[in-house]
Amino acid sequence: APAARGSRPVPGTDFTPVAPNTQDAVVTAEGYQQQVVIRWGDPVVPGAPEFDIHNQTAAAQEKQFGYNNDFAELVPLDPAGNENLLVVNHEYTTETHMFPGYDENNPTEEQVRIAWAAHGLSVVLVKRENGALRPKPSRYNRRITLTTPFELRGPAAGSDYLRTSADPTGTKVLGTQNNCSGSLTPWGTILSGEENFHQYFANADSVTDPTTKARLARYGITGTATTRKWEKFDKRWDLAQEPNEANRFGWVVEIDPLDPNSTPVKHTALGRFKHEGAAVTITKDRRVVAYSGDDERFDYIYKFVSHGRVKPGTSAHARRHNMSLLDDGTLYVAKFTGNSPASEIDGTGTLPGDGAFDGTGEWIPLASGTKSFVPGFTADEVYIFTRLAADKVGATTMDRPEDIQPNPVNGRIYCALTNNANRGSAGNAGPDEANPRVGNKHGHVLEIDDDATGTRFRWGLLLVCGDPNDPGTYFGGFDKSRVSPISCPDNVAFDRHGNLWITTDGNALGSNDGLFAVPVDGPERGWVKQFLTVPRGAETCGPVIRDTVVTVCVQHPGEVDGASADNPASHWPDGGTTVPRPSVVAVWREDGGEIGSR
Ligand code: FEO
Ligand code: CA
Ligand code: CA
Ligand code: CA
Repeated sequence: APAARGSRPVPGTDFTPVAPNTQDAVVTAEGYQQQVVIRWGDPVVPGAPEFDIHNQTAAAQEKQFGYNNDFAELVPLDPAGNENLLVVNHEYTTETHMFPGYDENNPTEEQVRIAWAAHGLSVVLVKRENGALRPKPSRYNRRITLTTPFELRGPAAGSDYLRTSADPTGTKVLGTQNNCSGSLTPWGTILSGEENFHQYFANADSVTDPTTKARLARYGITGTATTRKWEKFDKRWDLAQEPNEANRFGWVVEIDPLDPNSTPVKHTALGRFKHEGAAVTITKDRRVVAYSGDDERFDYIYKFVSHGRVKPGTSAHARRHNMSLLDDGTLYVAKFTGNSPASEIDGTGTLPGDGAFDGTGEWIPLASGTKSFVPGFTADEVYIFTRLAADKVGATTMDRPEDIQPNPVNGRIYCALTNNANRGSAGNAGPDEANPRVGNKHGHVLEIDDDATGTRFRWGLLLVCGDPNDPGTYFGGFDKSRVSPISCPDNVAFDRHGNLWITTDGNALGSNDGLFAVPVDGPERGWVKQFLTVPRGAETCGPVIRDTVVTVCVQHPGEVDGASADNPASHWPDGGTTVPRPSVVAVWREDGGEIGSR
């Protein structure tokens, strides 16, 4: 047994784990304090009225914090980290939870416009005060919504496939939606992934061209009316009238939080799919490599390698140059090969004979600049219909690739594969060494040792999640009697020691979701500990791990079957009989000391 165990804990993960629970509260490790930083409806920009759930307007929501916070980042404005810009994705709206008395068959135009304003992102200054983070007015504060102009850039910008009657140039899109995860770039901008954009587009059934219909279907766009019925109020959501509008979503967007007047960008060079997010690393030769997962059962992991090189510094010139790097490069998709015989992968998650789920992999190029490597696809078609291009080249279908992030300490890449109940079911792909469980309910965490600008990598599974008493789980080889149960990993982040922090969405073990920390090197590799749990029905996302403060987004509290604003299943955070409000929470040590040390 490792000598260090129990005597000198890995810095950053030394806390007493929170037990699984179903409380309607954020429950933190002992010795930590918490505070709600900002809630749905709280003011962001000047003139925002006080939130009143019974008197909502689109004009108010455009100035207030949006709905369903997912990714968050703290962009430091000073070296001590006392002032930060909190940048947050507002992934999606659930109208039945937002509007008391909501009529699903007949939303009002105002309700629809409120939903457009509740999507997008918020930028808000937060100041550290006695541990807590307090929102403040500032010149940076900004709301980005579904009506904010974006510039489409990169090799597919202006493509015929991106033109609509409102934008015959194919270069200007109103808004961003379903922004799930994201990251902070080394040059200080925010990347954010447009994920489940399919659900906003109506009337795919009325499209007659078989190629167009197949492309829509590969992205999950089928059927007639949408749940939200936005198509009644703006024809751009109606594919019968605007068949290309759906092609203008599903991108990685880049936002400059330091310039509130800047036009955000959609980067076509990173491909179009259900981007969970995107995160970059800088190579020794100063090129930018961006990793991104396509969050769908049996979809793929991608990377992009820039042609250009990062300019150091934060001058306006350097920043402008660096913000162009994601416009030109090579887009690849991943193929995983196991090193154990297929006969040793039995679909239960039992370790193969060599004691590890591991192997090698290859990045298969799809397109570079304006050149396509996929037979039958133009470069525009690779970038815009990326899933169909990747289908052609033998990429490995994964168990829902969520967040993928480079570890700034050890350089390896970590990807959460959240779950895939359909793995191995009739008509679907069976297990392989990288996705080793049939009916994978609890997900796993992948670790990649990548030659960042090259086409080869080595990989292994760090965690095969679930109840540690289940023999089909694996915790990096650590003693399973000491770990916290973990299910459905979604977001990943790192502290300054390189420990991996994981949030979960959809805990299939029956207790609430939460935030976990796990060392990835040394004798405690695999020792998963739960740091906090979130209220009933909520998912935990957007973890930010700083030296003396952790923030998490509590998304969709109370979102359980049968609940609504008229019948709430949670009263967090305001208590009493209130309707739950998605919120950002800060957590710090009671004595102000470093997170995860004592
Ligand atoms: Fe929006 Fe993949 O979670
Ligand atoms: Ca193996
Ligand atoms: Ca997610
Ligand atoms: Ca999620």
